[in-house]
Amino acid sequence: MSHKHTAVEEARSDIREHAQATVSDLGSLAQEVSGGNELRDMLIRAAKQTATLDASIKEAQQSLTVSQSAAVRLALRVDNINEQWKSLPKTIDVVKVASADILPLGMAGSDGDRRLLVLYGSQTGYAQDSAHRIARQGWRRHFSVRVQAMDQVDKTEVFTATCPVIFVCSTTGQGEEPDNMKRFWRFLLRKSIPHDALDGLSFAVFGLGDSSYQRFNFPAKRLFRRLQQLGASPIIARGDGDDQHYLGIDGALDPWLEKLWDALLLRYPLPEPIVPDSVVPDPSFDVAFISNGHPASFDRVPEPEGSFSARLVAADRLTARDHFQDVRHFQFELDDQGSLPEWGPGDCAVLRPESLAPDVNRFLERMGWTESADLPLSISARDTSDFPCWIPACTTLRWLFTHYFDVMAVPRRSFFEMLYYFSEYENEKERLHEFSSTEGQDELQTYCMRPRRTILEVLDDLPHSRVPVEYIFDVFPPIAERSFSISSASAVTPTLVDLTVAIVNYNTIMQAPRVGVCTKWLAQMPLTHNVQLRFAKGTMRLPIDNSTPIIMVGPGTGIAAFMSFMYKRCSDGANANYLFFGCRNESKDFLYQKQLEKWVAEGSLHLFCAFSRDQEGQKVYVQQRIREHGDLVWALINDLGATIFVSGNANRMPDDVRQAFIDVVKSHADIDEDAASLYIQSMVKSRRYQEECWY
Ligand SMILES: Cc1cc2nc3c(=O)[nH]c(=O)nc-3n(C[C@H](O)[C@H](O)[C@H](O)COP(=O)(O)OP(=O)(O)OC[C@H]3O[C@@H](n4cnc5c(N)ncnc54)[C@H](O)[C@@H]3O)c2cc1C
Ligand SMILES: Cc1cc2nc3c(=O)[nH]c(=O)nc-3n(C[C@H](O)[C@H](O)[C@H](O)COP(=O)(O)O)c2cc1C
Repeated sequence: MSHKHTAVEEARSDIREHAQATVSDLGSLAQEVSGGNELRDMLIRAAKQTATLDASIKEAQQSLTVSQSAAVRLALRVDNINEQWKSLPKTIDVVKVASADILPLGMAGSDGDRRLLVLYGSQTGYAQDSAHRIARQGWRRHFSVRVQAMDQVDKTEVFTATCPVIFVCSTTGQGEEPDNMKRFWRFLLRKSIPHDALDGLSFAVFGLGDSSYQRFNFPAKRLFRRLQQLGASPIIARGDGDDQHYLGIDGALDPWLEKLWDALLLRYPLPEPIVPDSVVPDPSFDVAFISNGHPASFDRVPEPEGSFSARLVAADRLTARDHFQDVRHFQFELDDQGSLPEWGPGDCAVLRPESLAPDVNRFLERMGWTESADLPLSISARDTSDFPCWIPACTTLRWLFTHYFDVMAVPRRSFFEMLYYFSEYENEKERLHEFSSTEGQDELQTYCMRPRRTILEVLDDLPHSRVPVEYIFDVFPPIAERSFSISSASAVTPTLVDLTVAIVNYNTIMQAPRVGVCTKWLAQMPLTHNVQLRFAKGTMRLPIDNSTPIIMVGPGTGIAAFMSFMYKRCSDGANANYLFFGCRNESKDFLYQKQLEKWVAEGSLHLFCAFSRDQEGQKVYVQQRIREHGDLVWALINDLGATIFVSGNANRMPDDVRQAFIDVVKSHADIDEDAASLYIQSMVKSRRYQEECWY
């Protein structure tokens, strides 16, 4: 553009110079020849020449404008080419996908069939639910789809897969893989796997996460990268579901699925039209009453892989009777089964709660299954089913709705999607259809999510919906496991697992108070009752060197893991322990007060408490105490290399606490906010600042 611009400018100034020269020539001539026709003629000619020159200047200006717009167009074209260049890798992928049709057929399934493998990693059930939704959409497009947890699939099957594999995985902890994909992920990271081991595999990855966490969708990002490193080809770009989207995970899942099906149908053209939404999919299990079956009782809960049997030996309330919140200390004794599990400080006990008998009875009655609740029922998985292997092949409806299905959960979109087929009443059908559509998600939030309406309550609102028994696995969600930070230390009491549990009970616009599924189950559990416990690694890890000071920030039940830290550190003789604890009132919810004060008296704990409601006026929280003790905190982290741990409710607390540490760094190192944030950020990276927070 500048080149053309200069040329036009030069022409313009030439013309001006020429005109000025002509006018001055004429002036001198006029001086020489005063009067006379010649001069007059010359002046007329000069005037004409000037007019012509003016026209030329105008023309030059016009051509400059034309050149400028041509230059703009040129720049746009360059931008366009740059864009195309950037998206070249994507285009290559699309071409690869399209060309797969003409690759040796083996690449797309040697028998030319239409198969998909959907693998999920899910901690609380959303990713699993999304995986099944993908499977249903695949079925409508005439694919045979198998859904499995990543840790359940035979790994060689993935490495030799001839069909596309769709991975759906959520994020837990601080950017970590869910428990049921950890083994698969560890395997995938093995250095011994050749870099082209997944050559020929087509895959897609959809992540479920929450952008309010620092490590948003990290497992999905890592998985996508690793699959590519091993030679696999993405069918489409990774999808990032976000809890913060106003439509929740579906806000990203819906458009991502559209792209996925477009790409897959390019490769596997539809043999027949898509099965319309009005047609109910086949059930994924064969479920049938055993003919001539007699009432049966199946009370024993099978032991899922990796779990340990434990007996409840103590359940003491830690908060005052008249305090609004019931926090309890549960103690489980592990059966002496020969080999005891080992857990470290910061690890979690994982429990799968059961539904309580009154809720189960109410549900069975509502479904019209009271008579058949105890008849033997056979369950067999179809080869595409995601079979929970710990469920007995012969059981009863009562057993299933006590130990496996969760009717006290807040239903997700997929529940309405499936219930739609089983309503016999037009008005109900319309409502169910709305709740299962993208447009109806706002309405669903208002009806279900915000008031925390349960499945049982929804069914009460929809009296004409009757689920056929063979569809129970497709309609009702399984009970999700719940994690609890362990408060005891296996190094000190190897057979005892202590938990510090806040019993969930709160109000919404619903008439009945909302109660937590797992904590309600625990709260009513009689002593000596047996449960199955699983152990899971927590995200917080004590420093290896016992002389390293630790700063623990654990308001409320956030103290749970720090009790375990303290038991372990005391048994190791590590005394540089600093705890910031917060609660409402010293006299009502100061958890483990006696034990904490004992450690203080013994010199193994420095305790700083914030009792938010014990003073008039302003409430005081742990973050204020951290600022007040800034000198000490700074000396601990900067001079003595302390590690900071933050645990508890994930609402505002972790951010407020982090800001308090940033403020301490800012004022003591005399640096600005950005530098202080970077200081804390670098502590996070080197694992000297660790968080374990939950909703
Ligand atoms: C790693 C980890 C460690 C944990 N450690 C502990 C621990 O040591 N102690 C402990 O008590 N819990 C701990 N939890 C939380 C625990 O796993 C359960 O989520 C919690 O006990 C609730 O389970 P529930 O089945 O009783 O409630 P659910 O039936 O699952 O209902 C809980 C849901 O109800 C909603 N809710 C709860 N209270 C309110 C409220 N006041 N207002 C509005 N909505 C609300 C929230 O959406 C919440 O997710 C931990 C969680 C994780 C992930
Ligand atoms: C304890 C906990 C920790 C979480 N940590 C993260 C995280 O670090 N990054 C993220 O993007 N999402 C995080 N999430 C959000 C979940 O990944 C998200 O809610 C997802 O939908 C859950 O899917 P799932 O039920 O299949 O596990 C976390 C959720 C919980 C309850």
